[in-house]
Amino acid sequence: MKKFTNARIYRQHDHASEILVDKGVITQIGTNLPEADEEIDLGGRLVVPPYVDAHLHLDYVYTARNEGATNTSGTLFEGIARWHDVKKTQTLEDARERALKGIEEEVSKGVQFIRTHIDVDDPKLTGLKAMLEIREQLRDNVTIQIVAFPQEGMYAYKGGDEMIEEALKMGADCVGGIPHFEWAREIGEKSVRRTVELAEKYGKLIDVHCDETDDVMSRFVELLNALVMIEGIGARTTASHTCSFGSVDNAYAYRMMGLFQKSGMNFTANPTENAYLQGRQDSYPKRRGLTRVKEMWENGINVCFGQDSINDPWYPVGNGNMMNILDNGIHLAQIMSFDELDRCLDLITYNGAKTLNVEDRYGIEVGKPANFLVLNANTPFEAVRQRADVLASIRNGEYLFKRPAPSYEIEIDLFRKTR
Ligand code: FE2
Repeated sequence: MKKFTNARIYRQHDHASEILVDKGVITQIGTNLPEADEEIDLGGRLVVPPYVDAHLHLDYVYTARNEGATNTSGTLFEGIARWHDVKKTQTLEDARERALKGIEEEVSKGVQFIRTHIDVDDPKLTGLKAMLEIREQLRDNVTIQIVAFPQEGMYAYKGGDEMIEEALKMGADCVGGIPHFEWAREIGEKSVRRTVELAEKYGKLIDVHCDETDDVMSRFVELLNALVMIEGIGARTTASHTCSFGSVDNAYAYRMMGLFQKSGMNFTANPTENAYLQGRQDSYPKRRGLTRVKEMWENGINVCFGQDSINDPWYPVGNGNMMNILDNGIHLAQIMSFDELDRCLDLITYNGAKTLNVEDRYGIEVGKPANFLVLNANTPFEAVRQRADVLASIRNGEYLFKRPAPSYEIEIDLFRKTR
């Protein structure tokens, strides 16, 4: 039995400061709890559930400098063209090594839950094979969900729809899609319908790259939402990116947000990547590339953030740091009232867990696995303001890592003299 004391628990409103853990599970939360074999004083620091990266491409990581990978226009579409060449040289060993390095980088920054899209427009399914193996090997330490994702189209890539079905049979968790990349609106719509059909047929979750474009006429989110609402699987569905929804007019946006509320569909935005990729054909003002995160959040629609890219042909400087993603996201979305700042860690924790459909085993609650982070801050506001480091990541009651707290309270001579 272990007791973590002197904790400031995120979302815990009754001042409980102790967490008792037995056999990897939280058995009590409160004050003056029974003694344990091991007691760990957290020094009044903030304890939050693990970070969730709800959208990442682990088969692409660290390929930004590969031969043929340079994306000179900085657009999504050139990134796809560059990846087409890069993936030809991918081997199982190389895919495995890079993915492991990417996961390690994320875990070292507090992530314990990852949803990764894996390109299945590949007759050999190299990335998928590597990822399925890693998912099982790391299961106890990091929860990984795999999306069968047709990067070059479900139909624009010949046989893409069949590769997705094969990937689902092999064990992928979610059906993906990229309707805005198909060659005509009708074909994009056909791909959305097929995504929903396959999810129903195999009992899988859905996560579609949806409307990742500045084209306000790209409105596949409308069809996706309607179809999953009809089937009653909105909560099992995610629309990722939805950049164009940030450019539509309000009359359309608010009607749609009413329908999103009804379906319970989830949204994932990727602030750093889309701020970089979108608006490339704009002169000025340039769009931010972000969907309506603030309005969705205010209207009770589940929305969360993802890293998307770690050093790949789409975005070179991703590093798996979800605090950095949150920082960028709240700036771009203008989320900055004190009330919002107190709650915005939800965007990289609880909201991500809801998107992944893992709420039954996520959160700091009695009966759930003892998975949590210790941040170098005393309050949620200070965690966000200081972009606080993760001092410890605990999984099933054991440390994945812990590091000493860097001291920000150094005395600078000039100020001591001035005082
Ligand atoms: Fe993506």
